[in-house]
Amino acid sequence: VAQHHPHIQEVLLPKQAIEARVNELGRQIAADYADKRPVVIGTLKGAVVFMADLVRAMEPPPPGLELEFVRASSYGAATVSSGKVDLRMVGPTAIKGRHVLLVEDIVDSGCTAVALLEHFATAGAASVKLVSLLSKPERRTVTCEPHYLGFPVEDKFVVGYGLDYAEQYRSLPYIGVLKPECYA
Ligand code: PRP
Ligand code: MN
Ligand code: MG
Repeated sequence: VAQHHPHIQEVLLPKQAIEARVNELGRQIAADYADKRPVVIGTLKGAVVFMADLVRAMEPPPPGLELEFVRASSYGAATVSSGKVDLRMVGPTAIKGRHVLLVEDIVDSGCTAVALLEHFATAGAASVKLVSLLSKPERRTVTCEPHYLGFPVEDKFVVGYGLDYAEQYRSLPYIGVLKPECYA
């Protein structure tokens, strides 16, 4: 019996698999950032769900950790990136001299992550690293390798756990493949 959303043709990553991997990443990152007072920066909107779970999986909690958000958008309602990244910091957090950990839900073409990483490096961050839940390596148009990666995925249109199609499906607790008729 299908327990998932009617627009989902296949559950790629059930919530238990995501939870287990996110917990591993959280512990690894907590160890790496234990003495770095990191600024963890999530990209709105897609990274919100992953970021919420990831920071709570950082055990022991890194002292001085702060949360910040950046609005980055290039897709709109399209399924393919326009390549032009619109970037807007949400808060006033100073980046200069800080250890920045950028959180993404997915690295696809790589354009968004590269634009943000370059922005924080230019702003004088002491270090800039990227953690992404998902990566589609075969879709890269620019070189981008996440420092921490949850799962590599095939080139299928995935939604859920923060990822949308036309702003829908972000609240699904798993990563699923969207039925082609839902974006045709
Ligand atoms: C999506 C996703 C990543 C980016 C990845 O964001 O959340 O941020 O695209 O694609 P890229 O590697 O080709 O740049 P989107 O622009 O759809 O905004 P959203 O997070 O608000 O959905
Ligand atoms: Mn995004
Ligand atoms: Mg999107």
